[in-house]
This record gives sequence, C-alpha cells and structure tokens, in this order.
Amino acid sequence: MKYYIKTFGCQMNVYDSQRIARILQNMGHSPADTPAGADLIIFNTCHIREKAAEKLFSDLGRINLIKEERKAAGLETIIGVVGCVVQAEDEEIAKRAPFVNFATGPLTYYRIPEILQKIARDKNICIIDTDFPAESKFDHLPENRSEGSCSYLAVQEGCNNFCTYCIVPYTRGVETSRPVEEVLKEARRLVETGTLEINLLGQNVNAYHGEDNTGKERDLAYLLRRLAEIDGLKRLRYTTSYPADVNDDLIACHRDLKKLMPYLHLPLQSGSDKILKAMNRRHDRNQYLEIIGRLKDANPEIGFSSDFIVGFPGETDEDFADTLDMVEKVGYIQAFSFKYSRRPGTPAAVYPDQIPEKIKAERLNILQEKLFSMQLSFNKECIGKIMPVLFESKGRKKGQLFGRTPYMQNLHAQTDGAGLNQILPVRITGATVNSLSGTVIQQ
Ligand code: 5AD
Ligand code: SF4
Repeated sequence: MKYYIKTFGCQMNVYDSQRIARILQNMGHSPADTPAGADLIIFNTCHIREKAAEKLFSDLGRINLIKEERKAAGLETIIGVVGCVVQAEDEEIAKRAPFVNFATGPLTYYRIPEILQKIARDKNICIIDTDFPAESKFDHLPENRSEGSCSYLAVQEGCNNFCTYCIVPYTRGVETSRPVEEVLKEARRLVETGTLEINLLGQNVNAYHGEDNTGKERDLAYLLRRLAEIDGLKRLRYTTSYPADVNDDLIACHRDLKKLMPYLHLPLQSGSDKILKAMNRRHDRNQYLEIIGRLKDANPEIGFSSDFIVGFPGETDEDFADTLDMVEKVGYIQAFSFKYSRRPGTPAAVYPDQIPEKIKAERLNILQEKLFSMQLSFNKECIGKIMPVLFESKGRKKGQLFGRTPYMQNLHAQTDGAGLNQILPVRITGATVNSLSGTVIQQ
C-alpha cells in the first residue's frame, strides 16, 4: 500500500508520525506524495486547543471526498485517526466521521499492524482503541533511524502536573520515563544513521526519571551528560520543561556541556501569581525569575522562549499587565501565545469568570505585538555576527539551504548546493521576525 500521514500539533506528534511511518515501511508499504495517491491515510491529531480538534473534523470531511472519488475509480482507501483527539473524543469521531476505519490513542499506535490485518479481513469494521496499556509502546516499536541530521527522541511521555487548563494528562496519561539504556541505544542508532542534533522530547521532559541498568532512577541532567559523550553527536536540546522541575544539576549542564544548545523553552503561561495559582502551576513569578537568573549565571549566552495563555478564567487587566511585565523582565527571544481554550473535562473549563472572546483577542494582540517586536530585535542584533548553522534541508530556491542557529532561529543561505547536513559558520546578513538570512563563510 501507499500511505499518507498528516500531522497536527506538537513535536511529540511529529516523532510519533515518524515512528508510524517506520512501522508501515517495515510492513512493506511506501509513502505517497498526496492523499489522493494513498491507499491508507492517517491523521495524527492534537487536542490541546479547540481549534486544533475542530480542524480535524473539517479535514476529515475533505478526506472522505477523496475516499469517495477513489471508490468511484475502483480504489479502496483506509482512513485512520491517531493521537490525542482519539483519546478524548472517540465517540465523536465514530459519530461525526463514520467513514474512519480505525482510531487509536497516542499510546497504542504500535498496534496498527494487527489493526490493518483485521481491516484486510473485513473492510467494513471500525476499530477504536483508546487503551492506556500497562506496557510501554516503545517496547513494541521498530528500531528508530534518522530521517535527516536533526532528530527527535522521546524520553518521557505524559504528565502528572494537571495544570487546570490542560488536556494532556488525560490524553497522554500519567508520566512515564524510558530507561536510560534504551534512550542511549536509540540515540546511538540515530547518530550512526546521520543525526547530528538530537532534541529530547517529553510533555514534562525535565521530570525525566528513567532507570539505569542497576535499577537506579536517573534524572534528565544525567541523561544529557551520557548523551553528550556520544561521538558524532554535535548538538543536544530538550523540550518541554516545567519550571519547578529544573534542578541544580540541569542548570549545571548548561554550564558544562558544550553540545547543549544555549536555548531553553521554559513556559511561564502567565505572569500573574494569582493566575499561576489558579492554573495549578507549582511556581510563582519570583521562583521563575530565580531559575532564569541561575541559568543565565550558568551560561550567559542562553536565550529563553516560553508559552503564554491569555484570558484564563478570572484574568483581570492587572493580571495581564503582570504577564507583559514578566515578558519585559525575562526578555524572551521567542515565544508562543494562545487564547485560553476551554477543554471539556479539565477543571478550568467550569471555572466562573470565563473571559469574553473579544478581550482574549485584544490581549493576545497586545502580547504578540510585544513578543514579535522582541523577537525581531533579537534577530536584528544577530546581523553581522557569525553563527554556526546546522543545515537540515534544502530551501525552496535553487542552491538555497535551510538550517537552524543554536537559538533555533530559522536561517536561509544561498550556496553552491553543498553543505546539507553540515554545521557551517554563517555570517548573518538579514533578519525578519521569523527568519535570518546569511552567507556561509568559506573555510
Ligand atoms: N488553552 C490554551 N492554550 C493551552 N495550552 C495548553 N492547554 C491550553 C488551553 N486549554 C498551551 C500551553 C502549553 C502549550 C503547549 O499549549 O501554553 O504550554
Ligand atoms: Fe499540560 Fe501543565 Fe503538563 Fe504542560 S505541565 S503538559 S501544560 S499539565
């Protein structure tokens, strides 16, 4: 069969989709360029905000038209949905998209081979699997290998924090960490097959507490130090971190490990202590600023990014002003911001004082204007500097390469075509909000 996978949402979903693609390739299937050319279409879905879930249903409607057109031409199409929406809205999928052949949550997609076998026997069944299995999905996945020079590696999944707005603990389940040796083995294999940069993934990655060979629990700092020993691995990153779980040794890694990039995504969510409390975050403004200060002491070059939610229930103008104030104080080099979205089943969805959509939109505009202007000034300050860039893919134009600086900035450079999958020094010549341009310095 030819397969087509469409991925929504976070980096973990990108990683999961890569693992699903590997399962399918091991079964002898190959990728299609378009959904219309695919016998198997899989949607890997995101449930973090309402918009993301709604988009799934409109996209599924469109995919059903393709299924109908293919049917008219005598071709069968299997449609599968995986990921967080399935875990939360399995009945809704069965009701609103009855043409879907199978749906599995983010923890059970390793069962796709048996599911496809069942469907081969009976084309009319619809299989829905929302198990939270006792065993780890990673024990059942085929060996990972590089898709290019930058790879994701999931080390931890799920979350026990239960921030009151967040659906993740209900869709990805409670927090589990992969054993140290298993992570190291996957990392070595990625490096052997071409990876130069590994981005460790987890919903709460710095809660990592995997067992080593002796059964002792090890933290993320230990894992980073072991990974940094791998020859051929040039860059390390990790995301997403929870401020209250940043420990001393993790901070020390930012001082000690040259391979660890000087960039940290450390979501603050809100700058108001009252709202942080209502969100059930285990940190306040001062604790957050203290962690930022210690990280800057460990590595003065470090840059920070964050996630923000505006319009959380009960957020006043003063609370919002506190968020703007924290943005100033920290001086983020990049950040993502969202309007609060009510997720059914989470505590905040039924909090009183829900904020009107209009106010959420106004606050988001103000916050984003500020964040974008800070991002633009950071990018502009880079002009004239020489930065090491890992070129991970070809750009749209002939001879153009796309890469990332240590700060995750997007960079395009015009080259003679050489340099793909290499880290090269680049003189920065131009900057916009979202990307840099530069010239590779000939060595
Ligand atoms: N509404 C808006 N944003 C949310 N996020 C998580 N849940 C919600 C929600 N209900 C944001 C948080 C998180 C990021 C991945 O998504 O900022 O860090
Ligand atoms: Fe959601 Fe909070 Fe866990 Fe992040 S830390 S995944 S926002 S519950």
